[in-house]
Amino acid sequence: MRRRPQVLTEVREAPAPPEREKATRVLVEHHEVLRGLMRRLLETPRSEPGRRRALADELFDELRMHEMIEEDVFYPAMRDVTPGIAAAWSEHRQLSDQLAALVRADPRSGRFDRELGVMHDALESHAHLDEERQMFPEIERFADEDLLVELGDRLRDRLARLRSSRRTRTLLRLQRALLRLTAR
Ligand SMILES: [Fe+2]
Ligand SMILES: [Fe+2]
Repeated sequence: MRRRPQVLTEVREAPAPPEREKATRVLVEHHEVLRGLMRRLLETPRSEPGRRRALADELFDELRMHEMIEEDVFYPAMRDVTPGIAAAWSEHRQLSDQLAALVRADPRSGRFDRELGVMHDALESHAHLDEERQMFPEIERFADEDLLVELGDRLRDRLARLRSSRRTRTLLRLQRALLRLTAR
């Protein structure tokens, strides 16, 4: 029987360029990534410490990068649009402290569960209540739409570059290692 020639390459259409979105939308999408990681962490039992640790590492890296893009690109551009920016900066410091406490905790311990609960509440309070419910609607109402779309491009671009940057990845890994070294 004659075999049909194998198709070695599939002709695929080039992916469409991503639709341009406002900065607020890009940030909400990244909040969803953070929430997804948080959900997976909450679902992972103490009997899987390796997976818990890997997820905590991922949450650490994604949240740190989220803070970086907001602090470097978004917050400075929106400083005069909403008075909430100053408070948001200090909430980031609190989130970073809580993130450090989570990474330091032994994933087999009850302490990890407690730090995770506090982390969950702190993230929801900042990302959902303060940003998505208050700050972003205010910004969408008062900021120039073209500026928001341009900032959306910059945020997306910056996030992609941070994620693929070997230097950033190494820095985050070192930060995590240092936190665990100094854990009590
Ligand atoms: Fe934020
Ligand atoms: Fe945010």
